[in-house]
Amino acid sequence: MTNADELKRAAAAKALGEVRSGMRLGLGTGSTAWHFVDLLGEKVRNGFDVLCVPTSEVTAEQARSNGIPLSDLDTLDRLDLTVDGADEIDPALNLIKGGGGALLREKIVAAASAEMIVIADASKVVPALGRFPLPVEVNRFGLGATRRAVRRVLDRHGAQGELRLRGEETGQAFVTDGGHLILDAFFGRISQPEALSKDLLDIPGVVQHGLFLGMCSKAYIATPNGVERLL
Ligand code: 5RP
Repeated sequence: MTNADELKRAAAAKALGEVRSGMRLGLGTGSTAWHFVDLLGEKVRNGFDVLCVPTSEVTAEQARSNGIPLSDLDTLDRLDLTVDGADEIDPALNLIKGGGGALLREKIVAAASAEMIVIADASKVVPALGRFPLPVEVNRFGLGATRRAVRRVLDRHGAQGELRLRGEETGQAFVTDGGHLILDAFFGRISQPEALSKDLLDIPGVVQHGLFLGMCSKAYIATPNGVERLL
């Protein structure tokens, strides 16, 4: 295992320490969440009783192959806890997510959870959000019009860089589990996340964006000197 993987696994193990038998859990997506699902699988095989809602088809497949029982939000009303990774974490535990393209399901699952814990290595902690490009999930229909509308919002909010359709450079646009596309918005620094969130969601073709504001209650951040808890 690489050093980076060891850090991710250490953060995942801390979050696992908060899981109790009988809990209903949201399972995140990405390379850090992968470690959480892997460790949870070990506990389930030793008799731990949980029921989980995955945030992507990839995580669902991993959970199934680990013997973790799955359900969905049609069947379950509320979840006790969601554990997920993040692309950026600010001092107030606001997040940018969606680097792996699962932001819509991740936000739906986190919103249905009593608590959201983020697991990450220290490279994800930033003084202000925006260094990582903000993913904006959009409907395929009317892409050109939506892209222009998102560009106007970015200009009003002082975005410093371009707006890229994910995958366009390879000639194969990235398609989310929900069948949508992703525009990555390069900011540099997002000075008014709440206002930006509202302005993006006011665009009809925008399905969701990767700003998770006020949703995360705790983060376990792995450093070479141990795992720190941010509250
Ligand atoms: C996927 C996500 C991931 O949680 C985020 O990209 C972090 O991934 P990783 O743990 O691989 O760095 O939001 O949509």
